[in-house]
Order: sequence, then C-alpha cells, then structure tokens
Amino acid sequence: MEKTIRIKDKTFAVSIPEADILREVDRVAAELNRDLAGKAPLFLSVLNGSFMFMADLMKRIDIPCEVSFVKLASYQGAKSTGRVKELIGLNENLEGRTVVIVEDIVDSGLTMQRLVEQLAAHRPDKIHIVTLLLKPDRLMVNLDIEYVAMRIPNDFIVGYGLDYDGLGRNYKDIYTVVSD
Ligand code: IMP
Ligand code: MG
Repeated sequence: MEKTIRIKDKTFAVSIPEADILREVDRVAAELNRDLAGKAPLFLSVLNGSFMFMADLMKRIDIPCEVSFVKLASYQGAKSTGRVKELIGLNENLEGRTVVIVEDIVDSGLTMQRLVEQLAAHRPDKIHIVTLLLKPDRLMVNLDIEYVAMRIPNDFIVGYGLDYDGLGRNYKDIYTVVSD
C-alpha cells in the first residue's frame, strides 16, 4: 500500500523516496566539488526549508568551504506594496567571495530573485544557485539556476524540509498532495 500522510485538510502520498533524493544530492555535490574547487565558497542555506537538503549536501562536499545560514523574513511593507522579504542573519563579509545559495524549492522564482538582489549588494565575486527542487512550468523570472537536484511538476509537496502551514518538514521522503 502506498504510504500516505494527513496534514490538516490535505492528504499526501510519497512521490520521491529518500533514496531517490539522495542519489540526486550525490550528483549535485559531485558537480559542486568539481566546479568550485579552489574557490573556498561560502554555502548559504536559506532557512527553514533547506535545512535537511543542506545537511545532506554538506556531508558530500569535500572542498574547503564555509557553511552558514540565512532567513527571509516576511513583513508587510510600509506602503501597500504587498509582502516584502527581508534577508536576516547574514554575518559574513561577502565582498569578493564565491557565494552558493542553497534553497529548497524555486517555484515562481520571485523569492530567489529578491535574495540574489540583496546578496549582490554585498559585492560578492560570484553568486551560484543550488536548489533541491524546481517547478520549471512555474518559473516567472530570468534566473540562472545552475544546480538543480530534481525538476518536479506543478503540484504542492511536503517533506524533506518543505512544509504545509509549518507542518511536514520532518519527513525523510517527499510527498505530493493527492486530495484536499
Ligand atoms: P517562489 O518565490 O514562488 O519561487 O516560492 C518559493 C517558496 O514557496 C519556497 O521557498 C517555499 O517556501 C514555497 N513553496 C513553493 N512551492 C512549494 C511546495 O510545493 N511545497 C512547499 N512550499 C512551497
Ligand atoms: Mg524556502
């Protein structure tokens, strides 16, 4: 029987088992080890969603590097411009450095675009993007996402760090919504 979980009003079924996730994490890690050797990159994990991916990815990185964590805090803009996301928790000097953003998922890409803009203001030498998941059909902005572990259809997912209303981040597999 297929493994399902219930979170609030929705039912989810396993769509990407842990072993499949880790095989793609292995592949992306090997690409990063190859491409960024000698660059002493700073890996910046975007919390909360990327915590599990970050841990598994960093265990497979064997070049000299730094590891740190930032968060995008939502707040209501002073004007009625909608939701703005502010970068918090950045303690490192990025000037002249190779920075690697580690995200859980790029959907419309607006969050990532805003993050890249904010990090660029700190004058790094280069910003690379790594994402666990990409929904290619949803991407609205022009972003160079060099490292993608998995491309998925436009369905809502939870698990392996991703949440539905704060719940579901703890599961080791990825689940896709099957019914409301
Ligand atoms: P974007 O700005 O549209 O690219 O949205 C990115 C953010 O939306 C991610 O960091 C997630 O927090 C959230 N998100 C997008 N799709 C999903 C999903 O299928 N499950 C859980 N969160 C998602
Ligand atoms: Mg996220």
